[in-house]
Amino acid sequence: MASVTPLTDLVNQQLASALSVTQPEADPLLRRSDRADFQANGILALAKQAKANPRELAAEVVARITTGDLIKDVEVSGPGFLNITVADRAITGNLAARHADGERLGVPLKADAGVTVVDYAQPNVAKEMHVGHLRSAVIGDALRAMLDFTGEKTIGRHHIGDWGTQFGMLIQYLFEHPGELAPAAEVDGEQAMSNLNRVYKASRALFDADEEFKERARKRVVALQSGDKETLELWQQFVDESKVYFYSVFEKLDMEIRDEEIVGESAYNEGMPETARLLEESGVAVRSEGALVVFFDEIRGKDDQPVPLIVQKADGGFGYAASDLTAIRNRVVDLHATTLLYVVDVRQSLHFRMVFETARRAGWLNDDVTAHNMGYGTVLGADGKPFKTREGETVRLEDLLDEAVQRAAEVVREKARDLTEDEIRERAEQVGIGAVKYADLSTSPNRDYKFDLDQMVSLNGDTSVYLQYAYARIQSILRKAGEVRPAAHPELELHGAERALGLHLDAFGDTVFEASAEYAPHKLAAYLYQLASLYTSFYDKCPVLKADSPEQVENRLFLCDLTARTLHRGMALLGIRTPERL
Ligand code: ARG
Repeated sequence: MASVTPLTDLVNQQLASALSVTQPEADPLLRRSDRADFQANGILALAKQAKANPRELAAEVVARITTGDLIKDVEVSGPGFLNITVADRAITGNLAARHADGERLGVPLKADAGVTVVDYAQPNVAKEMHVGHLRSAVIGDALRAMLDFTGEKTIGRHHIGDWGTQFGMLIQYLFEHPGELAPAAEVDGEQAMSNLNRVYKASRALFDADEEFKERARKRVVALQSGDKETLELWQQFVDESKVYFYSVFEKLDMEIRDEEIVGESAYNEGMPETARLLEESGVAVRSEGALVVFFDEIRGKDDQPVPLIVQKADGGFGYAASDLTAIRNRVVDLHATTLLYVVDVRQSLHFRMVFETARRAGWLNDDVTAHNMGYGTVLGADGKPFKTREGETVRLEDLLDEAVQRAAEVVREKARDLTEDEIRERAEQVGIGAVKYADLSTSPNRDYKFDLDQMVSLNGDTSVYLQYAYARIQSILRKAGEVRPAAHPELELHGAERALGLHLDAFGDTVFEASAEYAPHKLAAYLYQLASLYTSFYDKCPVLKADSPEQVENRLFLCDLTARTLHRGMALLGIRTPERL
């Protein structure tokens, strides 16, 4: 593996050393620019400081820069900017080194890698997954892949809702109606969910109608909490049945979930009394009307009353907050996390503010560990309101995914010339699921977005299909080239469209690093979209297979190939497939 220094950095170094005569460690403030390749704006601030004329200072700096292998041309523009043009040879050389580096494309691993525990894809046991669970899964999965690519170590945690008083009712029902849930090994995802739904509805009806059942269900909660063996076995049946269902949905989402990373609320049961004890002993939590709570000056609800975080209820029971606090201890102490990342609906942001602040006061979070809640926005329907079915019910995630695949099949079929039915189905899955993921990931996570399938599977515009087609088109060119292989020829002069594409390709690593550090997958999506657009204009302006010379053909094939590999890698980081043919 050989990492490649981006041209931006190389140019930056030269400029910085030319500036250092005026001021050591001055930042040239280098940007990509449409006028030249790069523009440096740093001289303006420097001149102001030194009370010098910026254009004169700029001219002095230019005089100190040696043009040649890297910088071909540098000139002063405007009030004291520098316009910098890089040598064609430097561009092709850098790209060739990336091309030679296989999967990593010359992108280095970060030096100060830490351990990030990513809490994402956390559905609830015995409940249907709906559109709200989509974002956490899709965003979390992408962030993980991006962080991994930078060299960060990530550990997934699926904090599923597998505990709580609602299980009393379910378990009691199953106890009284044995055999209502088929053994998990014998059902598929659909059957599992339909069994769970049936049991849920029946037990709910009984619970609402029958006071005596209600009382038996209440006793069952106590039995569950005290670890009664038979009760736990029945509870486990619900968890197992639900997992069959979860796995089927995640498979549909083309997402790998590892069993050892499904660590739900119940996993922290044993540690919760200790969490409460530590908080009470340190005075972080106090008893209030029998409950153990934490108060915050800054957090107030209606009537300006402080809203406390409840660690333990007056009846001794623990809830959501206690499980999250205990999870933090586990993740920091046992998993050695340096970052805790929670990909959870923004509507839970108050919960996390309180949990993090409590953990900080208790010393579980400190300067060595940061906690961050990536609160994402809501998925909206075409009407701009939270996404519902026509009947006003929440939309089942599977139905949504099925529909996306169906729409994608129409698009694929229309374009398909020699694809078999099986191939169409496979492509439709890759296109449809990719479309759903991309629509989600290309929006800034904190914003709401409209779920609009027509737009999502459109071939034009900022969609995954557009990117997938760009990739497939390149593969088809590479196939047509037959014996002629992509090869870099740094001695060739580049067309403007080639330079623009090349400089963008060179920035892939920087983009992934920036997008990962900011937890902003939409920045990677925007990069990829621009890459496909730059490729399209390169393709329009520069003939590839019919280029002027054999070297030119090879060099353009090389640009095509590197574009394809960058697209492929970038899309893979977003969890999206790039079929070889479409
Ligand atoms: N299961 C929860 C829900 O569906 C989300 C869990 C989020 N993660 C956490 N550590 N609290 O609302």
